[in-house]
Amino acid sequence: MGKLLFFIPDQASSVASEVDLFFFFMVVVSGFFSLLIAGLIIFFAIRYRDSRPEERRRPADDIEDPTTHGHGEAPIVLEIVWTAIPFAITMVMFAWGTSLFFTLSRPPAGAMQVYAVGKQWMWKFQHPEGVREINELHVPIGQNVRLTMGSEDVIHSFFVPAFRVKQDVVPGRYTQVWFKATRTGRFHLFCAEYCGTQHSGMIGSVTVMEPNEYEAWLAGGGAATAGQSLAQMGERLFNERACNTCHLPNGEGRGPSLVGLLGKTVKLESGGSVVADETYLRESILNPAAKIVAGYAPQMPTFQGQLTEEQLLELIAYVHSLGRTAGAEGKKP
Ligand code: CUA
Repeated sequence: MGKLLFFIPDQASSVASEVDLFFFFMVVVSGFFSLLIAGLIIFFAIRYRDSRPEERRRPADDIEDPTTHGHGEAPIVLEIVWTAIPFAITMVMFAWGTSLFFTLSRPPAGAMQVYAVGKQWMWKFQHPEGVREINELHVPIGQNVRLTMGSEDVIHSFFVPAFRVKQDVVPGRYTQVWFKATRTGRFHLFCAEYCGTQHSGMIGSVTVMEPNEYEAWLAGGGAATAGQSLAQMGERLFNERACNTCHLPNGEGRGPSLVGLLGKTVKLESGGSVVADETYLRESILNPAAKIVAGYAPQMPTFQGQLTEEQLLELIAYVHSLGRTAGAEGKKP
C-alpha cells in the first residue's frame, strides 16, 4: 500500500504499510459509523418532530419505548443485527491489532543488537562494535535491528515515525524495540514522552545506509569509536571489578557461570524461576540479593551507584557475547 496522504510520514520500515492499513481501517470504520449515527439522529429529529403547539402534545411519560417492549419480530431482528455487526467488526480490530502488536513487540531471532540510553535530554547509542553516537543512529537497510534501551533519569519514549515504532524507555529496566528499515535516507527520531523542559529538543535522526556503506561507516569511525567492541569493554570492566573471580565459566565459582545465560530460564533459591533477560542481569548487578540462583549464597556485593548506564550495557553486552539462549528471542518485552 502506497503513501495514503501527504501528512503521513514516509513508510521506511517493514511494518509501516501494515500499521498504516490498520490505522486507515480504524479511521474509516469509526468515520462511517460516526457519520451514520449523527446523520440518523438529525434525520429522525426532523422527520418525527412534533409540530403541534406545546399544550396539545402528548406528555413525555406517555410515550412507550418500542425497543424494550417487544413490538413484534422486527425490533428483535434489528437488535441482533446491530449487536452482531459491531461485534464482528470490533473482533476484527482486536485480532488484527493483537497480531500486529505481537509482530511489533517480538524482535526476530538473529537481529542486530544496538543499545540505547535516554537521558535528559539526549539519545545515546552504542553499537556492538564499540561505536557510540549521540542523537544519531546509523543502521543498514534490510536488516532486523533490535534496540535494547534504558534510561538514566525519567521516562522517555523512542519514536521513529517513518518506521512506525514507538517504545517507552523506562528507568530501572530495559525495554526493546525492533525494526527493519526498507529505505535509505535520514529519518526523524523523537522523544515521545514529556520528560522535562527540553523534551522537545530531545530529537535526532536515524540514517539508513546500504550494507557496504554501513560497514565503511563503522570501520571509518563515522562517529567516535573506543577501538574496542562493547563486549570487550564489558569484559575489561568484568575483570577490573573482579566479577571474574566468582563467576567462573566452568560453573565452579562462588557465583553462577554466565556462559549462555542470556535468555536461559534460571531456577531461583526462593523457588520459582526467571528468564535471564537484560532486565534480570541489570537487577542482579545492582541488587544481587533480589533473585538468588538456586544453589548459591547471597554474597555478591551490590554495584548500585557504582556503574553508569553505559557500563551496565557493556557488562550485558559481554554476557551476551558469552552466548545467548534462543528462548529470549521472540519474547514479549
Ligand atoms: Cu525524553 Cu521527552
